[in-house]
Amino acid sequence: MFVYRKPTFADVDEIYELIALYAAQGLMLPKPHSVLYETLREFVVAEEVASKKIVGVGALHLTWNELAEVRSMAVDENFSRQGIGSAIVKKLLAEGRAVGVKEFFTLTYRPDFFASLGFEVTTKESLPHKIWKECIDCPKFSNCDEIAMTLGG
Ligand SMILES: CC(C)(COP(=O)(O)OP(=O)(O)OC[C@H]1O[C@@H](n2cnc3c(N)ncnc32)[C@H](O)[C@@H]1OP(=O)(O)O)[C@@H](O)C(=O)NCCC(=O)NCCS
Repeated sequence: MFVYRKPTFADVDEIYELIALYAAQGLMLPKPHSVLYETLREFVVAEEVASKKIVGVGALHLTWNELAEVRSMAVDENFSRQGIGSAIVKKLLAEGRAVGVKEFFTLTYRPDFFASLGFEVTTKESLPHKIWKECIDCPKFSNCDEIAMTLGG
């Protein structure tokens, strides 16, 4: 059984480790502790009740007027395909809608996962230029091969 909740600073090390594991495989960007501290309120985590272990994380980043990005999705591979990632995204979407988000987007290598949640593939060019601000720090900036997907609010 899992609970889905907002993290506290006590969870940062576990969030870091989950993301770092997939970042090492080139599946997502690494998030240093400094960034996790600053963006902690963007995250939702899944905790296995029995072990109190964080088994899934994800974040919603408000990007522009009524626009938000679902990012930093990572589920411990020992717990994959149990609906944990979907439950986290649904929580993030609800948080976004509560503040008036009308469109969600994501940049991903896992289009099947986001398609199962109703996201549709779009062109990167159709997203506002504002979203590329943080891409400048990405090693793949000039050769981005992630798939852009959007979902209406
Ligand atoms: C992508 C990820 C977050 C999915 O988490 P999850 O908890 O396993 O996902 P769910 O169990 O909620 O999957 C929901 C649906 O998404 C689809 N899906 C999920 N993983 C998939 C995969 N590897 N291949 C194909 N479809 C997949 C399926 O339709 C699945 O439903 P089903 O299991 O009933 O067939 C997880 O695999 C992960 O952390 N991957 C590595 C990091 C990563 O790539 N993050 C995304 C970058 S934005």
